[in-house]
Amino acid sequence: MSIAIQIRRTGGPEVIEVAEVRVGDPGAGEIRIRHQACGINFIDVYHRNGLYALPLPLTLGMEGAGVVEAVGEGVTHLKPGDRAAYASQPPGAYSEVRVMPAKCVVKLPDAISFEEGAAMMLKGLTVQYLLRKTQPQGGLQPGDFILFHAAAGGVGLIACQWARAMGVQLIGTAGSDEKCALALEHGASHVINYQRENFVERVKQITGGRGVKAVYDAVGKDTWDGSLDCLQPFGLMASYGNASGPVAPVALATLGAKGSLYVTRPTIFTHIATREATQAMADDLFGMVTSGKVKIRVDQRYALKDAAQAHVDLESRRTTGSSVLVP
Ligand SMILES: NC(=O)c1ccc[n+]([C@@H]2O[C@H](COP(=O)([O-])OP(=O)(O)OC[C@H]3O[C@@H](n4cnc5c(N)ncnc54)[C@H](OP(=O)(O)O)[C@@H]3O)[C@@H](O)[C@H]2O)c1
Repeated sequence: MSIAIQIRRTGGPEVIEVAEVRVGDPGAGEIRIRHQACGINFIDVYHRNGLYALPLPLTLGMEGAGVVEAVGEGVTHLKPGDRAAYASQPPGAYSEVRVMPAKCVVKLPDAISFEEGAAMMLKGLTVQYLLRKTQPQGGLQPGDFILFHAAAGGVGLIACQWARAMGVQLIGTAGSDEKCALALEHGASHVINYQRENFVERVKQITGGRGVKAVYDAVGKDTWDGSLDCLQPFGLMASYGNASGPVAPVALATLGAKGSLYVTRPTIFTHIATREATQAMADDLFGMVTSGKVKIRVDQRYALKDAAQAHVDLESRRTTGSSVLVP
């Protein structure tokens, strides 16, 4: 049996329930993992509130780290006793123990703690595919400017450090002066408090009127229009989330009028569709973390049964860096 954090209907944090579920043996291509820490991500909020619809009842959670207890037929890259971590579909990470597909689970290097592992897989692999693989025409070169919204959040603080390591000038936005200071400390070259400053005007000032080569925008509804106005001609808009709500339908001609812009709406799950791709991305991420170029900040820790409080804090913009649940 396992404690699992479930929803039976979509809604606010009040729909989150603590349940006890039976956990069986892994089938072909699956493992059973006992979590030491479970990651919290904004996608868990979209699953809970129904923005991303999934069958119910549902155990929440897409990210975790723990010890492999058993492996099913055909699983050769993991064995019982291995330390492991993952970002993976389907949800189910908010639990003590679960059975899940092995494909996206990788061995966790000894130098990385379980908490760091649970805090960094979904967020860190996201930064990996954004900054390494979701680049504007001609790529990202040292000195180039990019705009990264919510720069003091879980994904954001990893992005600040990763961009610094690439020599890219990351202009970070955040919702308070304290959060801006944190983003700056983690490698943002410039910061903008978008609660009280006009980020389009500030980006123009910072870039000498040129604008940025790429915008990485997971705030969505509230920042979409301004983000397009921050781009250079031929710039890339990577819209990868909706923390403030989904982006309204777009008139494509706008992209032409604003300078032949490129737009992509990526998701990590396309990037980690195969075991080989997941491992290669994880190796890159682990290298960044074990070399000290990227430090994983776990700023909020909650007992597993307090997952509802974790959602309240995340949605009310009270958190910085990553959050984990501890079973
Ligand atoms: N497509 C993908 O592959 C992918 C993968 C991972 C994450 N994401 C997206 O990346 C974003 C960051 O994820 P995360 O888990 O690291 O969360 P997070 O950044 O730690 O938390 C979300 C942050 O968004 C900002 N925000 C702006 N407007 C908001 C609003 N109306 N309500 C709530 N927050 C608002 C807040 O920062 P400020 O107060 O500083 O504004 C808040 O702290 C999310 O949108 C998530 O869906 C996408």
